[in-house]
Amino acid sequence: MSAVMSRDSSSAPVVELENVSKWYGPTQVLKSINLQANAGKVLVILGDNGAGKSTLVKILSGVERISEGNYLFKGSRIEMRSPRIARELGIATVFQDLAICPMLSIARNIVLGNEPKRRVGPLTFLDMPEARRQARAALSQLGVNISRDETELAARLSGGERQSVAIARAVHFGASCLMLDEPTSALAVRQAGKVLDSIAVARDRGQAVIMITHNFNHAMEIADQIVIVRQGEIVSRMKPAETSITEISRFVSGS
Ligand SMILES: Nc1ncnc2c1ncn2[C@@H]1O[C@H](COP(=O)(O)OP(=O)(O)O)[C@@H](O)[C@H]1O
Ligand SMILES: [Mg+2]
Repeated sequence: MSAVMSRDSSSAPVVELENVSKWYGPTQVLKSINLQANAGKVLVILGDNGAGKSTLVKILSGVERISEGNYLFKGSRIEMRSPRIARELGIATVFQDLAICPMLSIARNIVLGNEPKRRVGPLTFLDMPEARRQARAALSQLGVNISRDETELAARLSGGERQSVAIARAVHFGASCLMLDEPTSALAVRQAGKVLDSIAVARDRGQAVIMITHNFNHAMEIADQIVIVRQGEIVSRMKPAETSITEISRFVSGS
């Protein structure tokens, strides 16, 4: 690689980590990580429990700070100091456990943080008909058919539908980067297939997708690039067409 690289912002990766390390006290959990997520591509991060995958997601989403190294957004170095900054840049994260708020309606979940408002005199209200309209549009963009009316509580959705609603929110608000921590781990095969379909729609709409998983088959199915993390280090980078499940599992386990 040449020492001087000039890149315009349209060809630069949407999100890039350069020599990123992370310590928790004396423990180093990430070691000089280099990775790039590009528009219209799916980057899959694979690794065993404790490899550092969730720490990576927390750094990329602004929940945790980098100890050392650089965070670049569309070719420019940024200080990723908080989740708010990530949101403002359109870096949307679907966390594994908190994908949606069960006690809010499906529609409300989809517009969360970007609620359409209606003013009446000095007061502002949530514009519920508009929220419902936006929610329906978001779900239909993804080709998602949920079994419920969008005014029902999200608690009534199945696990796969919850992930789809969370992805719909990210896609609807035009996220530049969609990040998902183990979106299929708790799902039955058919549901997982639907979630992978939704991810493919986000990719085709030009978003840079980062998906964390430890399901080798899902990685092979959806990835443009696979990065394997072991003990806080990237130990391999591969394209699905150039590898096999056997090779992947060797890299993941380190045997
Ligand atoms: N807040 C923390 N303080 C100290 N160690 C942590 C903290 N969070 C994670 N770790 C450690 O960092 C390592 C990577 O964890 P994590 O990123 O959750 O892995 P993964 O998501 O791949 O299972 C683990 O050894 C874990 O114990
Ligand atoms: Mg994890």
